[in-house]
Amino acid sequence: AVEALFKDKHIMITAGPTREEIDPVRYISNHSSGKMGFAIAAVAQQLGAKVTLIAGPVSLPTPPNVIRKDINSAQDMLNAVHETIATQDIFIACAAVADYKVNKISAQKLKKQSQNITLTLSQNPDILSSVAFLEKPPFTVGFAAETQHVESYARAKLEKKKLNMIAANDVSNSTLGFNSDRNALIVLTSSSTQHLAPNNKSLLAMELMKLVHKEYSRS
Ligand code: C5P
Repeated sequence: AVEALFKDKHIMITAGPTREEIDPVRYISNHSSGKMGFAIAAVAQQLGAKVTLIAGPVSLPTPPNVIRKDINSAQDMLNAVHETIATQDIFIACAAVADYKVNKISAQKLKKQSQNITLTLSQNPDILSSVAFLEKPPFTVGFAAETQHVESYARAKLEKKKLNMIAANDVSNSTLGFNSDRNALIVLTSSSTQHLAPNNKSLLAMELMKLVHKEYSRS
């Protein structure tokens, strides 16, 4: 049996992509598989936590004994998160939230028209920031997918979003990260930098959650 590091702790995790509707048959999304977030949810539950997983559209089974809420859009994810965020001890934002949504979702299927068409997009809410800036925030962990200057960009995000911890990965390497079964992470706090070597996402999730526990216990 694994040690119950998070016994009776409530941990909420966001995972997967979001889907921003254009019309009844089309949407904007990204290649996030949800695998990292689902692996973290499984490990957190094994370590004794009561886990709520807010999942975008992914084709993954729900880890045992995890409460799962499925959503589509970033706005839906924001609403689902805030429904029970007040009772959470730790919030881990693993989702690849679409940065933009379509301004006006068409009620009817758009017809093919001229050579070029224009969709006007507006910014989605930043779910992680909305949690970190609560009056009494839970311990917050973010992710940062970068293709260059991984550590410095992630450190800037840690500070800007007022996070306790951020896990950064280099998505320029196609054998790791997005859609892959493997990943490698650089885990930052305001006073530390730790490298987690390339590994399958389950083992990496375990390493990450041990770091989360260490930092959470000190906070
Ligand atoms: O700023 P950036 O999108 O790179 O930040 C990534 C982190 O913020 C991830 O933890 C992601 O889950 C979270 N995020 C969010 N809501 C958004 C955008 C990003 O929760 N709208």
